Amino acid sequence: MLSKKINKALNDQIAMEAYASAYYLAMASWCEQKGFQGSASFFYKQAEEERMHMLKIFRYVNEAEGHALSPAVPQPAHDFAAYNSLFETSLEHEKKVTASIHEIMKLASDNNDFRTLNLLQWFVDEQLEEEKQMQTILDKLKLIGKDGVGLYMLDSELGQRASVPEAEE
Ligand code: FEO
Repeated sequence: MLSKKINKALNDQIAMEAYASAYYLAMASWCEQKGFQGSASFFYKQAEEERMHMLKIFRYVNEAEGHALSPAVPQPAHDFAAYNSLFETSLEHEKKVTASIHEIMKLASDNNDFRTLNLLQWFVDEQLEEEKQMQTILDKLKLIGKDGVGLYMLDSELGQRASVPEAEE
């Protein structure tokens, strides 16, 4: 059975993943408004992935005889200063998620909760991928600068990336 402390930490993480999903949805909408169709698809996919992360923890909590709570999700920002800022904000948020996962791992380790550690190991790998992905896009944006063709190509690339089905988990 989950300890109360770990149950609470996992419920907080559920809320964080739900917020990330809502945030990416807001970014998808902003991209659609501005004509970045490929990027909109990319952020829609990110939103789905975050919901999947939320559910993965949610279901684990109940399986482990804890009590998963459906989170209240604050409304995220809907306006962004510029296209680049979407990815800067995303990377910043992913880093916060990574730090939070590491904190819960420490708690689980201190409590000899090996099942929770096992669950969280998946998230450690996933966060590495997510941070790397956002950093790579930011690196490309730096190279592109204000070149319209470059931006158009990046937007198309992100759209293609979103259409690739996820590998089996
Ligand atoms: Fe599930 Fe990207 O944090």
